[in-house]
Amino acid sequence: MTAESFPATVMPDPDWWQALWPQPGQVLAGLGIAPGTGMAVDLCCGDGLFTAPLARLARHIVAIDNDPRMLALAREKVAAVSDAGACDFVEGDAYDIARLVRRPADLVLIANTFHGVPDKARLARGIAAVLKPGGWFIVVNWHRRPREETTVLGQWRGPRTEMRMTPEEVAAAVAPAGFRPARVVELPPYHYGAIFEKPTA
Ligand SMILES: C[S@@+](CC[C@H](N)C(=O)[O-])C[C@H]1O[C@@H](n2cnc3c(N)ncnc32)[C@H](O)[C@@H]1O
Repeated sequence: MTAESFPATVMPDPDWWQALWPQPGQVLAGLGIAPGTGMAVDLCCGDGLFTAPLARLARHIVAIDNDPRMLALAREKVAAVSDAGACDFVEGDAYDIARLVRRPADLVLIANTFHGVPDKARLARGIAAVLKPGGWFIVVNWHRRPREETTVLGQWRGPRTEMRMTPEEVAAAVAPAGFRPARVVELPPYHYGAIFEKPTA
């Protein structure tokens, strides 16, 4: 592990995670990520749940995680997608995104991780630095519902209730880095996607 992991961001067990996210490609479509996307970053990619469908939509992607075992799993998932675009797998700290990503990005996705980032403004600044003007920053987060209400396969799941954020709280956290809220997409049963734009001027 090259960096300290953010709290409460361990990759969930695949059994209930796959039950919760049976169609990750449809999630990306719902977020408005379309075929022909240029350069995309899957930040804190985990085992590649969203990396593989993203690789089918984007011409080039960079998948970042601080856990090499996760990157190996993500690499396998992407390799199984025959029409995947070019993909770089980078071990490193999400805070260092501006150093890890060498070309301007059209899109940065962070799924199921932002709630645990201790210095959200710092991370947002790094993301803003790699995005092109007009580029999208997408945060997929658990809704701010009590943990005992977010059951999957018969058990309470997800981060502690007090760590969960509303879309408005995410917007407030990333605003100092210059991000403008574009829209919020419902991702049933328990998530939302908050989409931000880096202003063009
Ligand atoms: C809850 S998992 C989410 C994985 C994937 N985005 C998904 O939604 O299925 C969070 C991931 O973030 C990674 N992670 C935690 N702290 C990190 C850090 N400081 N830098 C890079 N990756 C980190 C963990 O290794 C883990 O794979």
